[in-house]
Amino acid sequence: SGFTFPHPAGRRRWMKDAHAIDPERPVQSILERHRDLGPIFEIVVFGQKFVFVTSAELAAELNDESRFVKANSPALEGLRGIAGDGLFTAHNDEPNWQLAHDLLAPAFTKHAMQRYHPVMAETLDELFAAWDAGSGRVDVSADMTRLTLETIGRTGFSQAFDSFATDEVHPFVEAMVVALTLGRRKGVLLALPGSTLLARRLDRKHAHQLDYAQRFLDDIVASRRSGATTGGDDLLGIMLEQAHPETGQRLSDENIRYQILTFLVAGHETTSGALSFALYYLTRDPEVMAKAQAETDAILGSDADATPSYEQVPRFRYVRKVLDEALRLWPTAPGYARSPRETTTLGGRWTMTPEDWALVVLPLVQRDPAAWGESADTFDPERSRTRLSSTTKPFGTGERACIGRQFALHEATMALARILHRYDVAADPAYTLRIDERLTLMPQGLEVTLTRRTPGA
Ligand code: HEM
Repeated sequence: SGFTFPHPAGRRRWMKDAHAIDPERPVQSILERHRDLGPIFEIVVFGQKFVFVTSAELAAELNDESRFVKANSPALEGLRGIAGDGLFTAHNDEPNWQLAHDLLAPAFTKHAMQRYHPVMAETLDELFAAWDAGSGRVDVSADMTRLTLETIGRTGFSQAFDSFATDEVHPFVEAMVVALTLGRRKGVLLALPGSTLLARRLDRKHAHQLDYAQRFLDDIVASRRSGATTGGDDLLGIMLEQAHPETGQRLSDENIRYQILTFLVAGHETTSGALSFALYYLTRDPEVMAKAQAETDAILGSDADATPSYEQVPRFRYVRKVLDEALRLWPTAPGYARSPRETTTLGGRWTMTPEDWALVVLPLVQRDPAAWGESADTFDPERSRTRLSSTTKPFGTGERACIGRQFALHEATMALARILHRYDVAADPAYTLRIDERLTLMPQGLEVTLTRRTPGA
């Protein structure tokens, strides 16, 4: 048939496959339509072959670093126009990956979170002040995005976005959403004849926003260089001032711009989505909510303004389980791609060469009944771990796994704990989960009512 892997029936022509996946909601359409296609299948969209892996067993193989490495999917490759060889989009063998990784890894250890903790706590207080002054009606995804953008901006770059002062989305964020959507579309259209022209036309149409984003990044660097802003050894300080301890190399200005953009984007949307899904599930499940609130009372006591210390954050074990379970069902970065180092056979059956890649479809892999049993689709923060549960990898895998994992977990655990400690959170019972797919997954239209509570009661 010309296909290497199983393929949706009846769709043989390259354009027709475009209908196999809904471009507006690719992940959800795979979840809805393709669970029956088996652990691996391929779809050809606009002349490009996409291979999807959906079982925990095959994902475990792809996660084996001795045989497989990160690959840039077309969607990721399409972002190189704005993110270049920044950490997320760099190819494995590009020298700037190792250089930036070595320079920045020390800023992301668990211990390093001590440095960001006070700013994270202060930013959260500002969100609460805005909430307390408001109507109590809150758009969860929008406000979680304000919180996480503000947090990565301030901790990483000493750059505030004034998110809580206005109802508007910050123009940089708007420009990023445009750029990311464009990038993904360009990446997917790459193999089409005329794609370069099309890409140029798309760029021209959005030139205003793309220019704005460039200027914004240039300004961040320029004002730090000129001393107009200071930030000590925050991420920007490290990138501008430090040389590699062994090679003495420094990051170029161009690469620093790529990294700032990468961190501002990667550092907020995914965390915001994780918090939003967690709040969605909490508002559906009074028992889980009660347990989580009891934990916050036990740790923070009866003062609704109490802020956990850095050392206290990991003690919110149950709150953390709620986050982990939300990230199992809806991993907000819904997949990552892997290529074999050398020609190899996957699952004892499918040959893959180093030119091939397969996408680990996390929402399916992490709901594989072989790993989680028949209740795989239900939210249960206390489910017991199994042999294949090690394939639950919302932060990716291996050397190219998420550098910001500790950052995200520290920030999100503290935020969720404090929200639940301070407020009773109720969602409209008629709300059914809708998910917006950009580069990440995000609940859409989830509104909650917040009521101040008396902790410890
Ligand atoms: C990489 C998920 C938060 C920065 C990744 C990857 C995943 C991921 C799956 C690997 C992608 C691949 O293999 O292609 C998440 C999730 C987050 C989160 C689910 C929140 C819940 C953050 C934060 C930051 C960050 C807070 C920064 C402060 C990065 C960077 C990379 C990355 C720079 C590229 C690492 C490299 O290749 O060296 N993330 N992330 N992420 N993430 Fe995150």
